[in-house]
Amino acid sequence: MVAKKDMGKMGSSNMMDCNSMMDMGDMECPNHPDLILLRDAAADEREAIALYFQAARHTCMTELFLDIIEDEMQHYVMIMHHISMLDPVQADKFREEGLNELIMKGMMKKMRAKWMQKPVMAEGKDVAVSLLDDNELEAVCYLTKALASEFHAINKYQCSMEKSEIMHNKHLFCHLMNEEKEHVAEFTKAIFEITQEPLPPETD
Ligand SMILES: [Fe+2]
Ligand SMILES: [Fe+2]
Repeated sequence: MVAKKDMGKMGSSNMMDCNSMMDMGDMECPNHPDLILLRDAAADEREAIALYFQAARHTCMTELFLDIIEDEMQHYVMIMHHISMLDPVQADKFREEGLNELIMKGMMKKMRAKWMQKPVMAEGKDVAVSLLDDNELEAVCYLTKALASEFHAINKYQCSMEKSEIMHNKHLFCHLMNEEKEHVAEFTKAIFEITQEPLPPETD
């Protein structure tokens, strides 16, 4: 932890700290710069998944798109594991929504050993993901746009929290940033309920 008088100096000085957290009294304010990159990547993966669901339904290349969707879903989970390692607030929000599969509790090696392989498929089935009907597709597209904007909002608030030189403004940005993490968990849960994503077993 950094003394409050040193707050203005924070930022690049703690780049190498894997669990960097801005000290705001009793508030948890995760501020590792890699979180910005990871959330951007997560938004990109979800946008790709939504696009491929549309393509699977509206083109003759259904199997191809469903197969790639599955890979992108795994990428999303991997990114969420890395986010949860650096952002305990987001990890708590996932836990509250029952999304324990998105929380990385162990080390990288353990994750690789447990689920880098594809999920086991029913006989005669090449992919675990199914086509969505028009209503489901529309809902997934809206939810994806919502989720991507939540990730981008969190990134903006984290940057604003870092940049601000006034403590009560930093406090406000931290508070708003953490509230958006609840929305990420809620929208992710809603998408998963429709897409029935093949999730890895919980890590321990
Ligand atoms: Fe991907
Ligand atoms: Fe939000």
